[in-house]
Amino acid sequence: MRPKPPPGTELARLDDLPDPGARAADWESGAVLLVRRGDTVTAWANICPHAGMPLTLPDGRGLLHKGETLVCPAHGASFDATGGACTGGPAADNRLTPVAVEIAGGIVYAA
Ligand code: FES
Repeated sequence: MRPKPPPGTELARLDDLPDPGARAADWESGAVLLVRRGDTVTAWANICPHAGMPLTLPDGRGLLHKGETLVCPAHGASFDATGGACTGGPAADNRLTPVAVEIAGGIVYAA
């Protein structure tokens, strides 16, 4: 199990996140996956509930399909990027682990 960031931890500058898009925060070697859509950011533990692999590519990019669906690069499980539920593939009946975040002054912080 990867750690969760303590409240107030700076995770990323909003402007450094693709929009729409997903990428790992620098904190703890990419332990948190950030998903941006406009001024909204949701965050998830960067670990797939299927087999425990990262949800990001080695360069830290997340695969966000049509701005709505996260796809695990390991075996293709898909997840609703808003609610975290599995929507297809081998992680059925599992969901992503949320990480609370807030945005202040253009910075994404753990909440
Ligand atoms: S580890 Fe993500 S689909 Fe298998």
